[in-house]
Amino acid sequence: MIAISDLEAGYGPLHVLFGITTSYQREAITAIVGPNGSGKSTLLKTIFGLTKVFRGQITFDGRDITGRPPHQISRLGIAYLPQTDNVFANLTVRENIAMATYGMRKEEAAERVEEVKSFLPVIERYWNRKAGSLSGGERQMVAMGMALIRRPKVMLFDEPTANLSPKFAKIVLEQIVRLRDDLRITVLLVEQNALRALEHGDRAQLLVSGQLVYDGPARDLLENRELGRLYLGLRS
Ligand SMILES: Nc1ncnc2c1ncn2[C@@H]1O[C@H](COP(=O)(O)OP(=O)(O)O)[C@@H](O)[C@H]1O
Ligand SMILES: [Mg+2]
Repeated sequence: MIAISDLEAGYGPLHVLFGITTSYQREAITAIVGPNGSGKSTLLKTIFGLTKVFRGQITFDGRDITGRPPHQISRLGIAYLPQTDNVFANLTVRENIAMATYGMRKEEAAERVEEVKSFLPVIERYWNRKAGSLSGGERQMVAMGMALIRRPKVMLFDEPTANLSPKFAKIVLEQIVRLRDDLRITVLLVEQNALRALEHGDRAQLLVSGQLVYDGPARDLLENRELGRLYLGLRS
C-alpha cells in the first residue's frame, strides 16, 4: 500500500537515505532495525513529509505523496508517532484525546473517543491525570489512542519501547500486534531492540548508513548470523 522507489532524502544539504526501493504490504508489521544514525527515524519522517526529498517517489494506495506536507498525509490515513513529545504533558489524558478530535463534529468526536477507549481500556485508569505525570509506557498508550482517533490505515512508530522496562515494552508491543490483528492497520515499527522487534514483525528491514541491507521475512533476518552479528548485536 506504500511504495517507495529510488528514494534519496535528508535535511537541508545533508543526504541521509540512498536508493531506497521497497513497499509495505497491507496489514503487516514491518520492523525497521539498524545501528544508531543509520536513518531509521529519517525514513519514517520522510514518509510523513518531514524531510527533504532529493529524488525518488513515495506512493500511498497509488497516490503520489512525495513532498506533501504532513497534514495532508495524515488526512490520507497515515499516522506518525514520534519517539518523544508525542503527548501534551500539561494536559490530562482526557484532554489529550480530545485534542486529537480537533475539527470533528461533536457527535463524531464522542463516538471516536468511545471507540478508542474500548480498544485501549487501560487508558481510562489514568484518564484524569496529567500526561506529564505518566510513565513512559502509559504515555505511549495515550499517544497510540490519540493517533487512533483518526482511524489511520498506516501507523509509523518510532521506537515506542525506548526507555521502557521489559514488562512495559512487552505490553506496548502486544498492543501494536492488536492494531494489526484487530484493526487491520499496517505498521512500520522502528525499534532499537532488534531481537524484540524481529520477534513481533512479519517483515524486517535492516538499514545501514541510509541504505537497505536486508528487506524480507523477519524470521530470516533473525536467523542470519552474519547480519545479526555485524549490525544488530545478536549473538550467533
Ligand atoms: N533534523 C535533522 N537535521 C539534520 N540532520 C539530522 C536530523 N535528524 C537526523 N539527522 C542526521 O541523519 C542521520 C540519520 O539519523 P536518524 O534517522 O535519526 O537515525 P536513526 O533513527 O537510525 O538513529 C544522522 O547522521 C543524523 O545526525
Ligand atoms: Mg531514530
